[in-house]
Amino acid sequence: MIELLRDPAAAGVWCEKARAAGSTIGFVPTMGALHEGHLALVRAALARNDRVCVSVFVNPLQFDEKKDFERYPRDLEGDARALGGSGCSMVFTGTFEQFFPAGAHLREPGPRALGLEGDLRPGHFAGVATIVERLFEIVRPDDAYFGQKDFQQTLVVEDLARAMGYPRIRVCPTVRESSGLAMSSRNQLLSPVERVHATILSRSLEAARAAWRSGRRDARELAGAMRDVLDRAPRNGVPVEVQYATVRDPAAWTRDEPAERMERAVALVAARVAAVRLIDNMVLHEG
Ligand code: PAJ
Repeated sequence: MIELLRDPAAAGVWCEKARAAGSTIGFVPTMGALHEGHLALVRAALARNDRVCVSVFVNPLQFDEKKDFERYPRDLEGDARALGGSGCSMVFTGTFEQFFPAGAHLREPGPRALGLEGDLRPGHFAGVATIVERLFEIVRPDDAYFGQKDFQQTLVVEDLARAMGYPRIRVCPTVRESSGLAMSSRNQLLSPVERVHATILSRSLEAARAAWRSGRRDARELAGAMRDVLDRAPRNGVPVEVQYATVRDPAAWTRDEPAERMERAVALVAARVAAVRLIDNMVLHEG
């Protein structure tokens, strides 16, 4: 049976008891509206830990747009149902005041928050680092699971965990629909036609991978292959605004696109499809 706790303090006590009983804890932080991508993280956590717990909290600190926060999908009952059969032991949530009784003290993220998402969404990664630090303090997990889907977030969280001294950060592959579209809670906000158009993100990443496989190692050429797909796709009246289509060295993250020949690369794309902002990425030197 899964326990649903609506109080972070109670969740802290639950975790403390599990630890005292000798259990290891795997933790999956989320903002809810759970889908297969989230459930894959839960399964990865179950494979390594005695107990798995999930948090569901739509964290206002990390939204740079009020409207995006307001219409972010929320479905706690559905989330609890989805987790019910997953093997997860406990799911918790809380209000902002419960998480931050004395108000939130913003935690500055490390240098890998610079560039791309960090530049386009001011304050976003400080908001992420602040809530994730708080969640880690509550759960004190052995392992915490994050999706590669939010690539730069995994870098920020790794830096945070290094500074805190725990937990181990485990990054899991992006789960996609059969169309290639990366699963995301925000996909619910797309109409069926917009959802089809949203596949241009993953198709642009596939083009970068094809270019990599054909021997291209220049960032501008790899990004150019993405641009070709993004520029040429028919729009059929669906507005698509590309915010970036670029590559970075995943190990030596730089704010700007690297000028030198690349040894390793991750392609990253962000676009607004109709009213919904989507991001995706693909590691080019693997797979
Ligand atoms: P959320 O968007 O709910 O995502 C929770 C976790 O699920 C993140 O680690 C995210 O990368 C992962 N995830 C989302 N879609 C995925 C997919 N298609 N495949 C694999 N993993 C996927 O990310 C957040 O919430 C928040 O920023 C949070 C870390 C909870 C802090 O508020």
